[in-house]
Amino acid sequence: MLLLQLEDIKQLLTNVGEKNFFLQLIDTLQSDYKRWFEFDKKPRLASHVDLGVIELMPISNALYYAFKYVNGHPKNPQKNKLTVMATGQLSLCATGEPLLYCEMTLLTALRTAATSAMVAKYVANKNSSVLALIGTGAQSEFQYLAYSFIFDLQEVRYFDIDDHAMQKFATNMAKFEIKLTACKNATEAVIGADLITTCTADKCQQTVLTKAMIDKPVFINALGGDCPGKTELEKALLEDATIVVEYLAQTKIEGEIQQLNDDFSCVELHQIISQQVTLNVQTQGTIIYDSVGFALEDYAILRLVYRLAQQYQLGQQIDMIPHLTDVKDLFSLLK
Ligand SMILES: NC(=O)c1ccc[n+]([C@@H]2O[C@H](COP(=O)([O-])OP(=O)(O)OC[C@H]3O[C@@H](n4cnc5c(N)ncnc54)[C@H](O)[C@@H]3O)[C@@H](O)[C@H]2O)c1
Repeated sequence: MLLLQLEDIKQLLTNVGEKNFFLQLIDTLQSDYKRWFEFDKKPRLASHVDLGVIELMPISNALYYAFKYVNGHPKNPQKNKLTVMATGQLSLCATGEPLLYCEMTLLTALRTAATSAMVAKYVANKNSSVLALIGTGAQSEFQYLAYSFIFDLQEVRYFDIDDHAMQKFATNMAKFEIKLTACKNATEAVIGADLITTCTADKCQQTVLTKAMIDKPVFINALGGDCPGKTELEKALLEDATIVVEYLAQTKIEGEIQQLNDDFSCVELHQIISQQVTLNVQTQGTIIYDSVGFALEDYAILRLVYRLAQQYQLGQQIDMIPHLTDVKDLFSLLK
């Protein structure tokens, strides 16, 4: 079984190059979303605890079985711990043999950003040049990076209720050639934006964006509402827009659409990727990608890093599964 730790993923990104990695990841996501009906899918299994949630996210097709363990604890930064931490595994379906055990905190940020950019590539205005980011925590720079490989971004407008997070974002972004506009609130941040990502964390129903704040048709990627009772958008904004979800069975429990009655309509992402449905901000008006994070995205990045790690000979073989001369003699391990 191959073990990929953080250092291995960092090395892999250096070897492949960030842009090349994101583009390969978007290709892999597209190819897996196109094969939607091959997958055995289920909503993730969530255990709600006092200060957050702990989730298991399984998925499989004929080749691989993948799962991710992930948490969401919005108050963790007060204890100097990440809000979202994750590990994952990839196994071979033919035998059930675990192939890969992998860090997935960094991979979650990468796959979430790549999926955001992939959806935007299909439905946002092709000339989008202004990105607004509400919430400049752990996910934020990754969001910028992925969009920057798809769109010719000229400006990033950003806001966070935490000054330290705003400062950290400005410091990390200084190396990119892009106009950075720090804003006093979310209303100011979304002025003139073509693309908006909300990536705030709070275990409650917040109203980070309202219908009144949006002055032209935009692509909104709502990332932070991903749990029952945890949302970011005003209901009136949802009611007025076209909504894209990853997997309705999961999103109706966890996404922004938990605020709506059962009679609303939405499009599943695979329908767009397979070009069964064509949506665009220019023709439909505002489009909301109500992202909660789906297991297929973890499957896609796990199979990609597994292949690349073998190509670049990264990671370490670990002894987690017995290799026996006589496979019926497990007892020999005690001798
Ligand atoms: N959809 C997905 O696939 C996916 C993947 C990863 C994370 N997430 C979610 O995205 C969110 C962000 O994750 P993170 O790892 O960046 O968390 P984080 O805790 O590192 O950052 C969240 C930031 O939001 C800010 N914030 C909270 N309320 C705000 C408000 N009203 N206005 C402006 N800023 C506000 C906080 O100050 C913090 O800096 C979380 O809710 C997480 O659960 C979703």
